[in-house]
Amino acid sequence: MNNLVNQLRHAFTESFPGTPLIVRSPGRINIIGEHTDYNEGFVLPAAIDKAAYIAITLRDDDEIHLKALDFNEAFLVKIADMQPVTSNSWPNYILGSATQFIKRGIPLCGFNAVLVSDVPIGAGMSSSAAVECATVFALNEVLHTNLDKLTMVKMAQKAEHEYAGVMCGIMDQFASMMGKKDHVIKLDCRSLAYEYVPFKLEGIKVVLLNTNVKHSLASTEYNTRRKECEQAVAWVRAHVPNVSSLRDVTEEMLDNYVLPNDELIDRRSRYVVQEIGRLLSGCEDLRQGNVQALGKKMFETHEGLQNMYAVSCKELDWLIDQVKGNEAVIGARMMGGGFGGCTVNLVKEDAVDALIDTIKPAYEAAMNLPLTYYVASIENGTEIIQV
Ligand code: GLA
Repeated sequence: MNNLVNQLRHAFTESFPGTPLIVRSPGRINIIGEHTDYNEGFVLPAAIDKAAYIAITLRDDDEIHLKALDFNEAFLVKIADMQPVTSNSWPNYILGSATQFIKRGIPLCGFNAVLVSDVPIGAGMSSSAAVECATVFALNEVLHTNLDKLTMVKMAQKAEHEYAGVMCGIMDQFASMMGKKDHVIKLDCRSLAYEYVPFKLEGIKVVLLNTNVKHSLASTEYNTRRKECEQAVAWVRAHVPNVSSLRDVTEEMLDNYVLPNDELIDRRSRYVVQEIGRLLSGCEDLRQGNVQALGKKMFETHEGLQNMYAVSCKELDWLIDQVKGNEAVIGARMMGGGFGGCTVNLVKEDAVDALIDTIKPAYEAAMNLPLTYYVASIENGTEIIQV
């Protein structure tokens, strides 16, 4: 981290005057509870030791000057001309976040900002949420707007909706902003009530295996899944009026009101209903120290994401198949939106090296793609880096 921060500080002073404020905002993992956030269910994410860093100072005009060290690119726009740039481009995450201040009636002035990140892009570790949260938090500081963290989480989520076009739930931005060292966050995505659950498993590491597949399908399919879930809710609601999301739906309701209409919508929504239940009992497992039981549920989640929700891909499935019979791997599943990115694995500490040594060359030979890996540690959420 220090290295990245030094690099950032150096790059900032080479381009702009003044001493910048530096904010760090992490990527996230999610243990269980996938595609449940926008269905008002629960999630169990945590912030990790990979993060986006932004260095920022205000200007006395109306220009926004941006630099991204990872791409060696610069971008300049006047506040009045801010709008989304070509899809998936890094300025979107900063501009989308800055716009949220104006939308709240907060006067925005020009600023200089340099960005660097070691959250791998497209790996399902929320590199975009990290940038959005870093930007909102940093602007809140330099503009002295005194926004509370939950408001900033919602602003960062809106940035993703409006400037990246992904109608994401609240998990990623919440985890990045609110993370707590050595804890996962049990978040109720309906009420936004949350609880920090200790997650320091004796002799077990969280290993992320990155397929290095970035499917362009991901954002369109994501929005399609949301609509499929909404359709299921509409069919149920026609019979059970107080149902407002899949959170309120039971499998019996699906049997009665969704399955007769459409088998595919039934499969999608049944995955979500089951996953919400799985998370709740997974949290119980964790509380009782029964990591084996939690791990088993992670494998079940993967099966659901693969066969019912259909957001996996052959590379992710291959990685899960490989670790399934390995007694050192307690649980594993694909993580995040899907169609590529990482699997999250709970692995016995003394077996991590052996696992990597075997699976890396095997994956590379079978898939003709590099396999990268990270042993993630759970860290605090968005924070100012003290100089
Ligand atoms: C992406 C979204 C999240 C969540 C996950 C799937 O990461 O940004 O809101 O829906 O996919 O669980």
